Amino acid sequence: MKVLERLGRRRLDPDHILTPELARSLSGLSREIGRQLGLIVDRSGQVELLLVGDHRSIMIPGLPQSRTAGGRLRGLRCVHTQLGNEGLTQDDFMDLLFLRLDLMSVLEVDPEGWPGKLHSAHLSPGTMGEQQEAAGGAESRSWIELPPHQVSRKSDQLRELISSLEAEFTRLRPVREVDRGRDRAILVSVSSAPRRAAEESMAELAELAASAEVMVLAEVIQRRDKINPRFILGRGKLGEIMLQALQLNANLLIFDQELNPSQVRSITDHTEMRVIDRTQLILDIFARRALSREGRLQIEMAQLKYMLPRLGVRDDALSRLTGGIGGRGPGETRLEIDRRRTRDRLTKLAAKLKAVSKERYRRRERRRKKDVPVLSLVGYTNAGKSTLLNALTGSDILAEDQLFATLDPTSRRLRFPEEMEVIITDTVGFIRHLPAELLQAFKATLEELGEADVLIHVVDISNPRFAEHIKVVEDLLRELELDQLPRLTVFNKVDLVADGQWVREEAQRYDALPVSALDQETLPPLLERARHAVLK
Ligand code: GTP
Repeated sequence: MKVLERLGRRRLDPDHILTPELARSLSGLSREIGRQLGLIVDRSGQVELLLVGDHRSIMIPGLPQSRTAGGRLRGLRCVHTQLGNEGLTQDDFMDLLFLRLDLMSVLEVDPEGWPGKLHSAHLSPGTMGEQQEAAGGAESRSWIELPPHQVSRKSDQLRELISSLEAEFTRLRPVREVDRGRDRAILVSVSSAPRRAAEESMAELAELAASAEVMVLAEVIQRRDKINPRFILGRGKLGEIMLQALQLNANLLIFDQELNPSQVRSITDHTEMRVIDRTQLILDIFARRALSREGRLQIEMAQLKYMLPRLGVRDDALSRLTGGIGGRGPGETRLEIDRRRTRDRLTKLAAKLKAVSKERYRRRERRRKKDVPVLSLVGYTNAGKSTLLNALTGSDILAEDQLFATLDPTSRRLRFPEEMEVIITDTVGFIRHLPAELLQAFKATLEELGEADVLIHVVDISNPRFAEHIKVVEDLLRELELDQLPRLTVFNKVDLVADGQWVREEAQRYDALPVSALDQETLPPLLERARHAVLK
């Protein structure tokens, strides 16, 4: 035991993986006790942990980020003995990857307890895409093995190796000054849906991420026949994503599928990255964009509703510290307190929302009394609804090239040439898989659409996925029971499509009017059609 203690307190030469003396004591001792022995060493050579395994394996516990590091790797390396001559095993490579170790080394121990060859590997800073192409598979090149050798006095030049490795990681993917402070994400989709559907959904997720000002560094689609409810992704795939995150310097994983709390935890534990799902991303975007009081209340409600079941994970460590606070009996967990507060807040929000909606209802009533016809703009998010509204009415509400610039139904008056007044309202953009919480939250707002005399369905014809967008909108209108209303379809952004003939053909097929919200001259036919529609 004394020997072990002494080993645990040693400082090693920072340039040597192992010196011959240390290799001899480790191998001798390892053979004597019939177990693997390992050291976790920082960059200054300080032994941070001494590990004792069993005959065939060794477990590395969760490791802190070393103080001496500052780069992408952990700043710690592992070297352990092996009572045989297998060299580095799959387990070693997985530890190297998941723990972001500087280096993983294995020292063979012969039957007499003498040190054999020393095998080492480090992670590969190359980009994943290139590797996959070159190697026909990710794992084969995720790490680079150094030539095995006998431990000698010759320096391994370890410090130089690690610093050039860190430099290479940074050189391949430097963080530009303008991108500092922005989230850097890898998008992940795990789906049993057909590949095309998964790709469609992924493309939309990428657009959503851009709206939330997240940089998308890579997209990973994994198709599975059955989704594992516990881990969602296999360890191997997670390892690949982990390496990619390291190479690209990503700090966020965004899943296209909704994750349950235990999935989030298992992925976070393995990757040490922030993990969110599609719904959270959408809620975040809505939260940033809500302008009106009603919009803000609706979103806060949707967020809390989404959080509520996720607060239910019992945390025993916390419960011991906070039991009793809040006036309830001992044993109450802090998270339970949070749950109760969340419920209280939800009740309050519901009451406020009710008051605000009443106010909106009164406004609507006044409008109805005057008998002004209402046109409502609907459409897939980013189709150009706000821009078109501005162009038609000369008003100026937020229009940005980001999804969901509009979060509040905004009404503007429009005077037709012959002094007829209509009100145009602009609604929140529709998207595929609008989270149930949000649909619920916006129902009140969307219900207002039911009072429109005509719906103007705005389509971004320059988007290659326009046909799917049309379908998403139509499905949602059906769901909201608004599909019976008279509807005009408008193909917007024709200025972005070079092939005029194609636009005309598609417009005929969908009975749509081609316009460009940026070009006033294209609008009169639309006004004319709208006038006819309301007069009908
Ligand atoms: P949400 O609020 O997300 O539902 O979006 P929206 O449908 O209201 O779209 P918005 O009006 O915000 O327009 C989205 C982007 O498309 C903006 O960058 C507009 O400038 C641009 N845009 C809108 N109409 C046209 C057009 O006819 N031609 C071109 N080139 N760009 C357009």
